[in-house]
Formats: sequence, structure tokens, C-alpha cells
Amino acid sequence: MDNLLLNVHNVSKSFPGVKALADVGLDVRHNEVLALVGENGAGKSTLMKLLSGIHAPDSGSFELDGRPIQVQSPKQAQELGISIIHQEFNLMPDLTVAQNIYIGREPRSGNFLLNDRRLNARAAELFARIRIDLDPKSKVGDLTVAKQQMVEIAKALSHDSKVLIMDEPTAALNEAEVAALHEIIRNFKSESTGVIYISHRMDEINEIADRVTVLRDGGYVDTVDAGSTPIRDVISMMVGRRLSTEQRPDPAPAGTDVVLAADGVSTRDMLSGVSFELRAGEILGFAGLMGAGRTEVARAIVGADRITAGSIEVHGRQQKIPNPAAAASLGIGYLSEDRKHLGLLLDRNVKENIALSSLGRFSGGGFMKGKAMAAKAQELVGTLRIKTPSVNQPARNLSGGNQQKVVIAKWLLKDCDILIFDEPTRGIDVGAKEEIYTLLNELASQGKSIIMISSELPEVLRLSHRIVVMCEGRVAGSLSNDEADQENIMEMATRFGADDVVPAGAEPAGGTQ
Ligand SMILES: Nc1ncnc2c1ncn2[C@@H]1O[C@H](COP(=O)(O)OP(=O)(O)OP(=O)(O)O)[C@@H](O)[C@H]1O
Ligand SMILES: [Mg+2]
Repeated sequence: MDNLLLNVHNVSKSFPGVKALADVGLDVRHNEVLALVGENGAGKSTLMKLLSGIHAPDSGSFELDGRPIQVQSPKQAQELGISIIHQEFNLMPDLTVAQNIYIGREPRSGNFLLNDRRLNARAAELFARIRIDLDPKSKVGDLTVAKQQMVEIAKALSHDSKVLIMDEPTAALNEAEVAALHEIIRNFKSESTGVIYISHRMDEINEIADRVTVLRDGGYVDTVDAGSTPIRDVISMMVGRRLSTEQRPDPAPAGTDVVLAADGVSTRDMLSGVSFELRAGEILGFAGLMGAGRTEVARAIVGADRITAGSIEVHGRQQKIPNPAAAASLGIGYLSEDRKHLGLLLDRNVKENIALSSLGRFSGGGFMKGKAMAAKAQELVGTLRIKTPSVNQPARNLSGGNQQKVVIAKWLLKDCDILIFDEPTRGIDVGAKEEIYTLLNELASQGKSIIMISSELPEVLRLSHRIVVMCEGRVAGSLSNDEADQENIMEMATRFGADDVVPAGAEPAGGTQ
């Protein structure tokens, strides 16, 4: 076939105790987007790491434009025209956006300042061409996760690539940003280029992919045409079974106490007069566009950001919450959206990550305690289907999605009455998502109260008893689950125009209750 761009033959790769890939093949044609899908731990990232020279395959071969290639280092991959956007960011937080993009490729002549100026100009040109909204001079460490993702994308597109590999590029993006990325990809693919696209968001596959290759447990399952294959068929190929598609949450609790109330909460940078109530046994969804202030609400509640006006009541008592540790002692847990940096000890094993911070719960001393802890960790590994050879495996060696499940397991084990989940299923495969939904529903029916922040509207609708919609740091309104649909949430999420000023503390239309 002469429109073949990249060919992967019979590739295998093992790590100690794990066969990550067994005889996997795929091909990418010119001018196409090949989606690569599979459950957490299926081997997607590993295959891409082989293609980009990070790991060496145990066996198998690659061809690019009909010629055999060996990819021995990331640098060599780049020279061959293979660029990758990793699932984990590879950015230097202390450098600027432009410095990160051109690291190792800075213009040589002139003094340092001059180079920086030239670098910034070059970056600005690149952003204009690929239509990405970024300031070349911002320090990367100050950017939101979404903006950091944009830097990664710009960095990959700054090389003249033939094959562009994107490992979950949209996991941290909202709907508008996803649409913008898809546009960039459509502009990128051409007679001489192709894209490999990894995503857990099934809606994207119809949207962007030409064909889909499915992996399961390190093995090749099939490659199908994206346009003519129903998504539910792709999902069954991934998980090896049919999933139920129950669409709405369990009934809302009736007449239970308010456990958490925010009244006119403002912060210096973002929030303005945010009020809402959370009841026992309730799942309260927070919807809104990226930058609407949802994460900031969570941060204000747990004392990660300082409140400049307004108050917070926990179980009917007004509380000053200076920091997340104080929040935890009041029974409020926060699973942050930036789990990699705040939630996981990469060098500790799975068991320790799950159970160490809940050690007090395991009664008895020494050995017994250790045993109970291991048993509980093992149980959660089973419930969440965390793919690991054992609970003693260092967290670093787990796939991205499985690392996230470990952090979720840790929070499920902690004894909190109020749990705030920020993007709990980002990067989690479709099968495991359902299991997490079931778990959240169970926690709610046991009387725990949950705030669930998510950029995926179907997920918000699937889980929340009520939905608070935020827009530009304020509450734009709230909806019960029966009233809510994607349209009216989006309408509320874009309610305030840039200069439509509502006085802080004023009750916006739609109410907060
Ligand atoms: N460096 C490593 N050491 C040991 N095991 C590893 C290593 N890297 C990956 N694995 C294992 O290989 C398997 C495949 O992992 P991989 O990261 O390729 O999965 P994935 O399909 O990308 O999953 P996800 O959707 O969660 O990102 C997993 O069982 C993982 O734990
Ligand atoms: Mg991965």
C-alpha cells in the first residue's frame, strides 16, 4: 500500500513482572488520524514510547515511508520526524513558555537577552500560525494545566514532524479548547504527515479519527473504520464486554442537613460572591468553562487560597479554614485536579500510596496493622481494577490512568464526610469510569456529601443531584438534575459577558439553591 506512512510490526515489550506489549502491530497512513484506544494499562503509552525512542522494544520492527527505522533515542525520533506529546508533561516550570518550546534549540549568536527576545518572537509566530492563545513570556509553572498542555502541543508542532503522536492531549481541556485542538490537527495532517491520537474520550473518536486501533491487555485487538463503527462496538472491543449505559444518578436525598455552606465567598484573583449549599448524601456538580473558577471554589473551601470576603459553614458552624490540613481535620477531603504533583508519591508503592495517610484507621499495632492495610489496599485495587502486578509495585511504574486510580483509592479510604473531587475521571478509561461513578453513588447513599467538578457535561449530568454552574468566578445559577441538560448548562456557563458587571454578593438570575 503506497499511502503507508508508518508501520509497526510484531512489537513486544516487557517490564519486570509485566508484559506490556505482545506482538502488537499497527499502521498509519498519510493524511490520517489513527486513534489508539484501550483500557488503562493496555499498553498505549508504552507503544508510543517505543516509537519515540524512550524505551527499546524487546522484539519487532518499524518502517517509516517504506524504510526500516531504528529509534534509539528521543533525539533520533525527532530527526526522523516523529514527535510526541506525552501524557505526563515534560516542561520546566521555572522557564518561560518560549524557552520551554525551544529548549536546546535556542538561537546561538548574540547575548542572552537578545536571544530571549528572538525566541519570544519566534514563539509568537508559531502560536499565530497554529492559532494557540499563549504568552511566550509567561513562566510555565504559573500556567493552568490546560495552558501547560497547550505549551506541550506547541512544542511538538514546532518541529517539522511527519508523525505526530498525542498521548491524551485533551485530558485537561474543556470543550472549546478541544474543538480548537481538533482544528489544529486537521490543519496538520497532510499528504506527508499523519497523527496517532490516544484518548479515553470516546466522543472524540468520531470527531477526529479516520481509523481506530484497539489494544487490550498488551495485545492487538482490531483496527476499524472510525466513521462506520458505532462507539459502543469500539468500547466492547476495549473492555471485552458490554457496558450498561445508565444515564442518571440515584434519587436525590430528601430533607437532609446542610453540611457545607458557602456564603458570598470571594478571593483576590478569581471568585466573587460565591454562595451554595451542600446537603448530606448529595452529589453537587460544578460545571463551567475552563477558567470559570470551579477549582478555585474547591481551593477556597479547603483553605488553599485565602478568602477575602464571605464565610464558610461546616455542619452549621462558621469555620476559618487556613489550610488543607485544617480542612481535613474538619472532615473535608480534596482530590485535586493536579494529582500527579499533589497526590502521588511516585517512589512509594501502591499500598503505601493508598493506605499510609489513613494509617490511624487500622486498629491494632505493628504487624497486624500492616496486614490490615495491605488487605484494604488490595481490596481497592480490585474494586477500581488498578492494573499492577502487586500492591508492592512502585507507583512510578503504573500507567497514567492507573496512577490516578491509586490517588482516588487513597481518598476513598480516608474518613471524610465531605469529599471534593476535581476532574475525578480525567484519563480514566470508560470501564473504570463507570466503576468510579458507582463508588461515588455508594458513598452518597452512605450519607457522605460530594462536590464533583468536571469539564465533561455528560459526566456531570450522569452523577449530580444538583448542578452549580459557574461563569467568570461567579455562580451563574443552579439546576436540579431533572431540569438540567447540556444546552441550559452551556447557556448559563456563558451567561456573563466580559463587561456585564454583577455586584459581588448579588443573587444572579437562577438563584443558588
Ligand atoms: N517503566 C515501567 N516499569 C514497569 N511497568 C511499566 C512501566 N511502564 C509501563 N508499565 C506497565 O505496562 C503496562 C502498560 O502501561 P501503559 O502506560 O502503556 O498503559 P496505557 O495504555 O498508556 O494506560 P493509560 O490509559 O492508563 O495511560 C501497565 O501494566 C504498566 O503498569
Ligand atoms: Mg498512557
